[in-house]
Amino acid sequence: MKVAIVGTGYVGLVTGVVLAEKEHDVLCVDNDLEKVEKIRKGIPPIYEPGLEEVLKQTLASGTFRITSSIAEACEFAEVIFIAVGTPPGDDGTPDTTAVKAVAHEIGKNIKRYIVVVVKSTVPVGTGDLVENIIESYGVRHELFDVVSNPEFLREGTALDDTRHPDRLILGVERQEPADILLKLFECLPSPSLVTNRRSSELIKYASNSFLAVKISFANAMSRVCELCGANVAEVMKGVGMDARIGPAFLQAGLGWGGSCLPKDVQGMIAVACNWGYDFDLLRATVVINQHQTAHFINRLQKRLHGVNGKKIALLGLTFKPNTDDLRDSRSLIILESLLRNGAQVTAYDPVANEAAKKLHPEAKYAKNPYEAAKDADAVVIATEWNEFKELDLKKLADVMKQKILFDGRLIFNRKDVEAAGLEYFVVGERNVR
Ligand code: UGA
Repeated sequence: MKVAIVGTGYVGLVTGVVLAEKEHDVLCVDNDLEKVEKIRKGIPPIYEPGLEEVLKQTLASGTFRITSSIAEACEFAEVIFIAVGTPPGDDGTPDTTAVKAVAHEIGKNIKRYIVVVVKSTVPVGTGDLVENIIESYGVRHELFDVVSNPEFLREGTALDDTRHPDRLILGVERQEPADILLKLFECLPSPSLVTNRRSSELIKYASNSFLAVKISFANAMSRVCELCGANVAEVMKGVGMDARIGPAFLQAGLGWGGSCLPKDVQGMIAVACNWGYDFDLLRATVVINQHQTAHFINRLQKRLHGVNGKKIALLGLTFKPNTDDLRDSRSLIILESLLRNGAQVTAYDPVANEAAKKLHPEAKYAKNPYEAAKDADAVVIATEWNEFKELDLKKLADVMKQKILFDGRLIFNRKDVEAAGLEYFVVGERNVR
């Protein structure tokens, strides 16, 4: 099928290459000409495992192309996806300016029937808005349908998530466009739910909000565990063994960050409030998340008797492993707090040192974890990169001044850490000294 995708962020680009890999004819569109040039040369503008390879393959086979022209996309495609960003506005409500701008361009350029699919995360009712914008150009209703098709891929595992989706959600007002999209997505088998547009739009917010609730619940339990001497990893493992609950997203740590969960939880709170509901469960979820990072920093400060003048190695800067994304990273919150309080921070991240240096030139950046840990008063694990799980703890302890390891992501086993001569502080376990 001939498919156009407007917006080449994580969602647009990954969806594009995966559909192209499945032999659909894909034309991606972006108004950032530099990005278009890069992608045309096979260089993805984001770090995502495996993406460069499949981009190069699909460019070479001719099933993937890129342009900056929405007019060209409207002429070419049977289905056009809108996958542009919806950053949070001042009050937390998602800013749909870019979605509306694309709808205007589509409205100006529709000549024959096309299915317009909103993949961007948008507030309930945005599908109606897109429809009205297109109609405002005098486009007859028989010439288009607007469908909601939220995306659930995760950064770091985006290709795999897209190739093997848990579910396909389609929000439609008529069955015909649903049939066209079910055919398009036949190549990516998954259970599907065809519902109305507003329900579909809300499913995305509800999903990300519920994931945040799960993590904040595990983090709240971690605080209880630290007080009562239980072990949060074991507790949540036991809880997750209940088939009604499931083990996913119950990993306690420094809290949730990234470009989606924080934005979508705030968006859900704001949107519910606009509709007249005070979502106090989600407000508490946000507060627990903020406290989780602050509490970790307090523990570190307490152990070091203040961080002023102390040397701290911060391992991991991205909001989670296998991405170069620093947006709303818990690690950066820790970095900022340590610097504000007079610590000398040497950070190391497998992929994001350079990007972090631009944001925080006042910190030092090391070439590897051992260089970061040299003469340190403490090492902090802020992101669970595999590279850190394989650290030689004895070698790490040897180069440190004070042998103190703070683990914000529960990646080590206490016995191994202590055998290396390190004092171990981990989320969700009482301090043992
Ligand atoms: C999230 C959702 O998981 C995707 O389904 C969704 O498509 C995406 O947002 C989006 O809306 O675009 P993502 O932001 O890539 O994906 O990251 P997650 O894997 O959800 O992780 C979010 C944060 O939660 C990270 O900071 C991670 O470290 C943290 N987390 C996750 C935990 O602290 N514990 C867990 O058990 C799981």
